[in-house]
Amino acid sequence: MERDKYLSAIKPRMPEKRYIHTIGVMETAISLAVKYGEDSTAAETAAILHDIAKYADEDWMRQMVKENGLDARLAEWGSEILHGPVGAWIAETEFNITNEDILNSIRFHTTGRAGMSKLEKIIYIADMIEPNRKFDGVEHLRKSASEDLDIAMKACICHSIRFLVNTEQPIYPVSIECFNDVISKYA
Ligand SMILES: [Fe+2]
Ligand SMILES: [Fe+2]
Repeated sequence: MERDKYLSAIKPRMPEKRYIHTIGVMETAISLAVKYGEDSTAAETAAILHDIAKYADEDWMRQMVKENGLDARLAEWGSEILHGPVGAWIAETEFNITNEDILNSIRFHTTGRAGMSKLEKIIYIADMIEPNRKFDGVEHLRKSASEDLDIAMKACICHSIRFLVNTEQPIYPVSIECFNDVISKYA
């Protein structure tokens, strides 16, 4: 089964806590896929692989970005931003995943982007609301995910941007593009 193959591939690459998070994202993504009429196998694969590069060496990731012509803006960012695009690259080259929607869901799971597909939104939201996540406001995000995918996406990106501003952290430009896109569509 693909699920077991991918789970055993990610397990040695991350601490137990991140593996448990990944299982939570997988279960949440599958239930959102069923609820909102998306392919649940695609959601499962994207969810299992979304953090595959989370603990990869930062210098190695920068090298990957350079060698493989990924977005040049990435070179100035840390692993928090790098692990999405590099994870998509691993999914493509190591696991031969060709479904661009799955790859984009992994690629943009941390930052979001303008014009996200349904699967991309499902992975982005599942990553934030899976049952092991504990932060102020998570219950509100879970409630919106149970009601409407686009409203939930708006609530999630607004939460992320607000958090980054409040903690005086830099915001990757692609996240700003996501925020502008979402608030213009779902005012
Ligand atoms: Fe991640
Ligand atoms: Fe994650």
